[in-house]
Amino acid sequence: MIELKFKTPAVWAENIANAIGVFLPDHAAAERKASSMALGMVAHYPDKPELVSAMIDLALEELSHFRSVVKLMHERGLSLLPDEKDQYVNALRRNIRNGKLHYFMDRLLIAGIVEARGAERFGLIAEALPAGEMKRFYQSITRSELMHEGLFVQLAEKYFDLAEVRTRLDELLTAEAAIVSELPLRLALH
Ligand SMILES: [Fe+2]
Ligand SMILES: [Fe+2]
Repeated sequence: MIELKFKTPAVWAENIANAIGVFLPDHAAAERKASSMALGMVAHYPDKPELVSAMIDLALEELSHFRSVVKLMHERGLSLLPDEKDQYVNALRRNIRNGKLHYFMDRLLIAGIVEARGAERFGLIAEALPAGEMKRFYQSITRSELMHEGLFVQLAEKYFDLAEVRTRLDELLTAEAAIVSELPLRLALH
């Protein structure tokens, strides 16, 4: 499992719990991007059957998260917003090394870290929300994202040497902590 090196302050989740309608469009966009990221892996690594199957399942699950968030939004009279660049993900991706194998390993590990950060933050939101449908929704999203985090680590360990994966994961987690700690806390996932 992934141990993040920066802890998101609880106040971030409290602010979101008080303005969930502002947060939902950003959350929806994150789910849509997660689904297309999974399909991107399928397109990039068509010769790896285990990865392809896992990524198709993941794309479907993230798409169903997207559908659920959009449904919650529509029930509240909210609309999706134009696409925005995700500075956090872009900064993380700049740590991806060149070279076929390094590139592949880093993509898997960074995807796992993004899932881990998502699980951490959705979990904080679930805790901050009052009892009800929205809280249950965020509890279930948190469980899913924890599974996804594990999936990417397992895939990295399947295709690469365990010690090498551990070392690189640690380096990327250090980089992630530096990135996330410098970004402003917004009413958004990142
Ligand atoms: Fe998701
Ligand atoms: Fe996910």
